[in-house]
Amino acid sequence: MEFIALAQSLARSAGALILSRMGEQVTAEEKSSAFDVVTQVDKDCEQLIREGILSQHLDHEILGEEDTFLAQKSLEEVLSAVKKDTYLWIVDPIDGTSNFVQGIAGFTVSIALAYNGELLLGVVYDPSCDEMFSAVKGEGAFLNGKPIHVSNKTGLHTSVIATGFPSQMDARLAVYNGLGKLIHECRTIRSLGSAARHLAYVGAGRLDGFWENGLKTWDVAAGVLIVQEAGGQVSDTNGNSYSLNTLHIVSTNGLVHESLLDCLK
Ligand code: IPD
Ligand code: CA
Repeated sequence: MEFIALAQSLARSAGALILSRMGEQVTAEEKSSAFDVVTQVDKDCEQLIREGILSQHLDHEILGEEDTFLAQKSLEEVLSAVKKDTYLWIVDPIDGTSNFVQGIAGFTVSIALAYNGELLLGVVYDPSCDEMFSAVKGEGAFLNGKPIHVSNKTGLHTSVIATGFPSQMDARLAVYNGLGKLIHECRTIRSLGSAARHLAYVGAGRLDGFWENGLKTWDVAAGVLIVQEAGGQVSDTNGNSYSLNTLHIVSTNGLVHESLLDCLK
């Protein structure tokens, strides 16, 4: 199976599993703090995706949110241990676990594939709306198979910008400080509960920009490629190009990028 077909098929299967478990009494286990939670459904979905990848590509590596936590390893440790010339799948089985736990729609399954640090493909699947956002390097970005493009807004005053609230307090305070400045500058602000969905929406032109401090590679890798392939721009909060280690993300339609960076400084 082609890599992109495999990613989409596994995202759909994981999405179906999440929806089938939505009515259940789910326990939110605390990870690093009460602000960072996981459920059995996150773990089951990651297992499903892992098995699906390894059943076809035994020599590929996988960076998964829940396995990284179970291994008690930092993201930096896992990323620096990835061998050269190896395919690396980057998996967030549920991006927006708090949405899922609260019974709020809009969580996503996020799967990306990288090779030597370069993103090759990304899919972000929203099972509640059956929306499959996808991108392949150099081939454009798509929503349910139709091409998507970022918006054409040129100023922050007409822009709708999204953000999220990370679990780590220093990053959360950085978001709070950014919000304090941005509320004076942009049309309005949204926080939909999934960084991957925010990025996919920037790609689809539904949002004009998204930024958040303290994200993890699995939250953003797939969405970053979707924004880039949809004609948008992604950097860190200092304006440096995105890499798999980038944690503080700014993504826009490109036209409001400098204004958003300036505002958040
Ligand atoms: C979270 C979501 C949320 C963002 C948090 C992330 P998770 O991911 O993307 O929108 O604000 O910073 O941690 O934990 O639900 O996979
Ligand atoms: Ca997650």
